[in-house]
Amino acid sequence: SHFLPQYTRAEVKKHTNPSDRIWVTYAGEVFDITDFVDLHPGGKSKILLAAGGALEPFWALYGVHKSDHVLEILQEYKVGVI
Ligand code: HEM
Repeated sequence: SHFLPQYTRAEVKKHTNPSDRIWVTYAGEVFDITDFVDLHPGGKSKILLAAGGALEPFWALYGVHKSDHVLEILQEYKVGVI
């Protein structure tokens, strides 16, 4: 994650739909998940609840995400840091 751009949470919050791109944060990193929302095993409506903000509150509720497999998927979409 060296040399990735740094964003504010206010900037992340602007990215909540495909035309503006869909961004989320996790553990201090920023991800553009626009191309993943249709692939989400838990459905599009669920993943979009996190659009523009942090994944942590949702993943605290859905423990299925506590796996290396999920974190590997997420890393493919990294675009910056907070
Ligand atoms: C399941 C990835 C965000 C709700 C899954 C699975 C993956 C995944 C890989 C399947 C896990 C397995 O069966 O081993 C992701 C990624 C996310 C994300 C990469 C963010 C970029 C969310 C959010 C919510 C959510 C924000 C809820 C608001 C669920 C639910 C399932 C699930 C309910 C279980 C589906 C089922 O087995 O019936 N997710 N997820 N996910 N996800 Fe997510």
